[in-house]
Amino acid sequence: MASNQNRKITLLINDIGQLVTMQGPVPRRGPEMSEIGLIENGAIAISGEEIIAVGKADELAGKVDPAENCVVISAGGKVVTPGLIDPHTHPVFARTREKEFEMRLAGKSYMEIARAGGGIRSSVRHLRDTDEKELYERSKKTIRTMMSYGVTSIEAKSGYGLSLEAELKSLRVIKKLNDQEPMDLFATFLGAHEFPDEYRDKPEEYIELIINEMIPAVAKQNLAEFCDIFCEDEVFTVEQSRRILSAAKQAGLKIKIHADEIKSTGGAELAVELKAVSADHLVKISSTGIEMMAKSNTVAVLLPGTSFALGLDQSAPARELISKGAVVALSTDCNPGSSMTESLPMIISLAAINLKMTAAESLSAVTVNAACAVDRGDRLGRIERGMKADMVIWDMDDYRELPYHYGVNLVETVIKNGKVVSGG
Ligand code: NIG
Ligand code: FE
Repeated sequence: MASNQNRKITLLINDIGQLVTMQGPVPRRGPEMSEIGLIENGAIAISGEEIIAVGKADELAGKVDPAENCVVISAGGKVVTPGLIDPHTHPVFARTREKEFEMRLAGKSYMEIARAGGGIRSSVRHLRDTDEKELYERSKKTIRTMMSYGVTSIEAKSGYGLSLEAELKSLRVIKKLNDQEPMDLFATFLGAHEFPDEYRDKPEEYIELIINEMIPAVAKQNLAEFCDIFCEDEVFTVEQSRRILSAAKQAGLKIKIHADEIKSTGGAELAVELKAVSADHLVKISSTGIEMMAKSNTVAVLLPGTSFALGLDQSAPARELISKGAVVALSTDCNPGSSMTESLPMIISLAAINLKMTAAESLSAVTVNAACAVDRGDRLGRIERGMKADMVIWDMDDYRELPYHYGVNLVETVIKNGKVVSGG
């Protein structure tokens, strides 16, 4: 505690009925996912953007030194958790696609719509026609809605441009949002999201464009930390994915893969082979894929909102992944095609009902493990000394209300970098 004496407290949150610190192993595997580091009657002391002390309210009070203008917030006996982290989002798009949603209700599948020129390619046409400023404003709205649901950090993908210029435009929007909004955005280049209209009959040339022009430009301009790909039947094969992702790795980007979403193609195996930071979706992951994920540090990012919104009767095998010891995270997959939601709490409800994950497991999946899925396990996702001061006060007496009380927003106050950014 000695060094606390030189750090003046700028924000003190006290009277926390249940303080879900998530202190403990990073990442969480198997039964560790049920450990949430619960402190009853807790308090948190923050200096600037950093947490400097956490503990029982009565013990903490005498140990910290408040600054003259220290803000004191009472949580009123309610629940506080780390700010939620959404590790797989596609927030930069120009228009929504509700017509396709209705086509699916009428019986068309996601892939049938894509084959007919809709899907990702329709978002690409709209994004290319939208100027950067308008795209920024549209995406800002999405980010702010996410924040109102308790999210303080996201991974954000490009992938609706699919030309050098339109991909760079999307990544610049992400960078500007990161600079200007109270939200951390970790950028992912997803030029390999689909083959655009003009390359349908010459896929090899599009792959060359990604490898020879897009990846070098993204790396040179420092516009993305990760590179992702839609590795899927009728989109990018495992072999094409290996080539593109190896080039990305060589350029210094970290790897993510949309893997085994609609068909089992071996995407999870490739993710482990390439030491990807995460493999996402995994609805159709093979038993070999599960074994390999369990032995690796590649995070399994599960997206139950996508299975729900596509009306699929199958979900990712969360229970098996957890029991075998894979690192499991959860995300919205927020995008205009397959999962139009900004609400990570809604995903926690879907994870309970469809993936049979408990509230504690889901909390691990959207905090510590989600932090690992964006390679920030050391800074984000826990309420602990030295961590970034991102947290949420929830209008709940018990954290288990989170999945149970579904479809409404229970967020009371969002704190990002030690400041109240929503509610309060
Ligand atoms: O994660 N699967 C590929 N990408 C998105 C969907 C993109 C879209 O349809 O616009 C996903 O589900
Ligand atoms: Fe996605």
